[in-house]
Amino acid sequence: MDGNGRWAQRRGLPRTAGHTAGEENLAAVVRASVARNIDYLTVFGFSTENWIRPRGEVRHILGLHKKLFGRITELNELNVKVQWVGRPFDDPTARTPRYVQRAIRKAISDTAGNTGMTMTVAFDYGSRTEIAHAARRLISARQEPSVLNMSNQMYLSDMPEVDVLVRTSGETRISNFLLWQAVGAPSYFTDNTWPEFSAEDLDLALQLAQQFKTHETAYLAPRPN
Ligand code: IPE
Ligand code: MG
Repeated sequence: MDGNGRWAQRRGLPRTAGHTAGEENLAAVVRASVARNIDYLTVFGFSTENWIRPRGEVRHILGLHKKLFGRITELNELNVKVQWVGRPFDDPTARTPRYVQRAIRKAISDTAGNTGMTMTVAFDYGSRTEIAHAARRLISARQEPSVLNMSNQMYLSDMPEVDVLVRTSGETRISNFLLWQAVGAPSYFTDNTWPEFSAEDLDLALQLAQQFKTHETAYLAPRPN
């Protein structure tokens, strides 16, 4: 969900106002996604790299995550199940503060009975950290480091692989997001910043997904040449 800062700058507002607008637009994108019968929406809220931002900005973004995980009434009305992905809280390198952990746990348990879309928020998430974590788990379980075994050790191994990757605000990079899971996925790039990301953007991204329907099993068990 990139471009909050630029959205604010262009309006002569502080960056924090951009993050606030971004959180509000996420609520709108969730509604639009539910209306389109999307099964899984995974959003990058905060990365393992984002902690180096100025303290005040980080604090503001953390508060917005508390707010977003707190939208339980709204999520229940939409029949949305909440998930979270990131460095496990008991990992010595994890940095999610306790009050955000509590909000995450509450959102997950209060929406666990919902049967509609799964919305996963990546927070304190990094793809390289996830892949390294999977490799360590295989080593301690004395398992073969095969593609299938690696896939089974990802943080949320039950999740299907990515159908389409979206990046906003004119950036055409993936930046440590779901590198393992997005193996065959097409990417939708838009110049719109995250607060501007619209239902039309969503439809264009879905068109791409449809066009390049990935067959994950082809990547899971590559045939020897
Ligand atoms: C995305 O917006 C929010 C986070 C990465 C937490 P940015 O803050 O990266 O906005 P730009 O890239 O500076 O415009
Ligand atoms: Mg950015």
